[in-house]
Amino acid sequence: MTAVAETPQKAAPVPDGSTLITVKIARFNPEDGRGERWESFQVPVLPTDRFLNVLIYIKSYLDGTLTFRRSCAHGVCGSDAMRINGVNRLACKVLMKDLLPKSGKPLTMSVEPIRGLPVEKDLVVNMEPFFDAFRAVKPYLITSGNEPTRERIQSQADRHRFDDTTKCILCACCTTSCPVYWNDGSYFGPAAIVNAHRFIFDSRDEAAQERLDILNDVEGVWRCRTTFNCTDACPRGIQVTKAITEVKRALLFAR
Ligand code: SF4
Ligand code: SF4
Ligand code: FES
Repeated sequence: MTAVAETPQKAAPVPDGSTLITVKIARFNPEDGRGERWESFQVPVLPTDRFLNVLIYIKSYLDGTLTFRRSCAHGVCGSDAMRINGVNRLACKVLMKDLLPKSGKPLTMSVEPIRGLPVEKDLVVNMEPFFDAFRAVKPYLITSGNEPTRERIQSQADRHRFDDTTKCILCACCTTSCPVYWNDGSYFGPAAIVNAHRFIFDSRDEAAQERLDILNDVEGVWRCRTTFNCTDACPRGIQVTKAITEVKRALLFAR
């Protein structure tokens, strides 16, 4: 995961067949004393571009100080979560062909950092509180020391119980779309619960009760209001709210 470094300005190319759009970006530099503000850029885009290409164009040709994270550019690393037109998305998964108006009307887009985490610069937030919650639920296989001499066998049915939550790429789109998390950053948040679910329901793991005890807390699963923002925001299509509900049920059943 990298923050894109400053690059020298070059003559801005205008590709054949491109459409000029306006991109409003929420800017913040803690060192310039100007506070938070919106800045607009005109960018020629092709239908085949992703929104990440648009940001890279701005950084390469219009303003080298623009700061954002990205790495894989293919929806795998989870580093370029941002609020695009008011909803959390991975910039590399937003296709411009889905947004460009057929009528040729002008298009204005907005982009802001994800909410609920401290902004460090422009679109880069401090992810530490998010990863603290992730680490707190012990997101790794725990066994009582009986080293296997061969692979740990698991039936397809047992594997299916947590298959969905193995898909998480820790992008934080879910947690930073959660109104409970915005209002109280001490809530574990949906991503941490998803990653607890992945091990709680793994038949090879022996620490499900330990994780359930951690989540049976005032800042745990009971803070969830089942508003489904997190499910809508997940770029991996994980049924986040369903996973949270399954953890709640496991807690009720364990009582
Ligand atoms: S369903 Fe729960 S965790 Fe998800 S956004 Fe709503 S309150 Fe937050
Ligand atoms: S559950 Fe989905 S939205 Fe949440 S961190 Fe994982 S991949 Fe991202
Ligand atoms: S850059 Fe890796 S998910 Fe978008």
